[in-house]
Amino acid sequence: MAPERTEPELVPGTDADRALVANLLQLYLHDHSQYAQVEPDASGRFEFPWLDDYFGRPGRECWVIRADGRPVGFALTRDGVPGDEDAWHLAEFFVLRAHRRRGLGRRAARLVLQRHPGWWTLSYLANNTPAAGLWPALAAELSGGRVRRVEQAQTQPAAPAPRYRLRFEVPAP
Ligand SMILES: CC(C)(COP(=O)(O)OP(=O)(O)OC[C@H]1O[C@@H](n2cnc3c(N)ncnc32)[C@H](O)[C@@H]1OP(=O)(O)O)[C@@H](O)C(=O)NCCC(=O)NCCS
Repeated sequence: MAPERTEPELVPGTDADRALVANLLQLYLHDHSQYAQVEPDASGRFEFPWLDDYFGRPGRECWVIRADGRPVGFALTRDGVPGDEDAWHLAEFFVLRAHRRRGLGRRAARLVLQRHPGWWTLSYLANNTPAAGLWPALAAELSGGRVRRVEQAQTQPAAPAPRYRLRFEVPAP
């Protein structure tokens, strides 16, 4: 039987959602540790010192993805990335495992990107197979195939795979 199609809802994250997003972020960073050299600290927590910026700092947004009234993921977006000051940037994006592979990530990401019609950038590691399937296809779909892909310089420690940045324009919905 085909899995049920659930429409995701995008809700702006408020202070009341900060603990929720912090918890989901740990799951996200654990997933991320499959693809990059990321280790938790001595207490078993993955560090992410930028979360507070997404609650209240201008040019930073947190979105909670909900489905059937329950939280199923989140997105963090920002503007003002050096070199791409005219664009919004999809910095982090996560869907809980139990809700994956049903098109929910694609539909939720589309909702996020359509919040700011215009230029967007996002990055992904080539060894992150789901991301490498999702992002180029969605960017092409939204921009009518006009997607610029640039390989980014390796960071320290070097990622085990190339990191690509996409830049594309999202029309108003
Ligand atoms: C990436 C992620 C958001 C995808 O969410 P999802 O709800 O499963 O995605 P969808 O079901 O909408 O799938 C969209 C496309 O992504 C790709 N994809 C998703 N999961 C995949 C997998 N396990 N293997 C290969 N491709 C996959 C496919 O191209 C898929 O399109 P298709 O269904 O037509 O084949 C989810 O896997 C996730 O949260 N991963 C951990 C966090 C992460 O890596 N975020 C991205 C950081 S750049």
